[in-house]
Amino acid sequence: MVSVRINGKTVVMHSAPETPLLWALRCEIEPKLTGTKFGCGIGVCGACTVLIDNVAFRSCQIPICAIDKAEVVTIEGLESPEARALKKAWIECDVVQCGYCQSAQLVAATALLYCHRHPTDREINDAMQGIECRCGTFPRIRRAIHRAAESLQP
Ligand code: FES
Ligand code: FES
Repeated sequence: MVSVRINGKTVVMHSAPETPLLWALRCEIEPKLTGTKFGCGIGVCGACTVLIDNVAFRSCQIPICAIDKAEVVTIEGLESPEARALKKAWIECDVVQCGYCQSAQLVAATALLYCHRHPTDREINDAMQGIECRCGTFPRIRRAIHRAAESLQP
């Protein structure tokens, strides 16, 4: 039994301790947190990205026993000012196409704005690389991140 903090609540999980967080999020927790997507399951596509202590991690690669003292935030709990600014910019820049990768993109972009209030193109590229978008939305994602960063300036 592993006790985990997810989206501000303590959740007790009965899966084996080595169960990947992605499996627990999508299949064990009630209500199921299916906004975090299963893509490759081997740490390559980035579709399963969540925040763990405000840093972006691939949840298919994290066993639940490794996060018993951490704060996990999934797309369902992404409500910080940075996340809200990004969601607004996502709509204004018409970012989404099929949508499959977009939970991960928003989570990773939020983690980026926690570290860089005004990220450069290079910082955006570095933070977002490896979260695959087969629809080719990355140019719009980059534009939306710049827009969100500007909206957060005092
Ligand atoms: S599902 Fe985790 S990286 Fe692809
Ligand atoms: S919007 Fe379709 S995979 Fe990214």
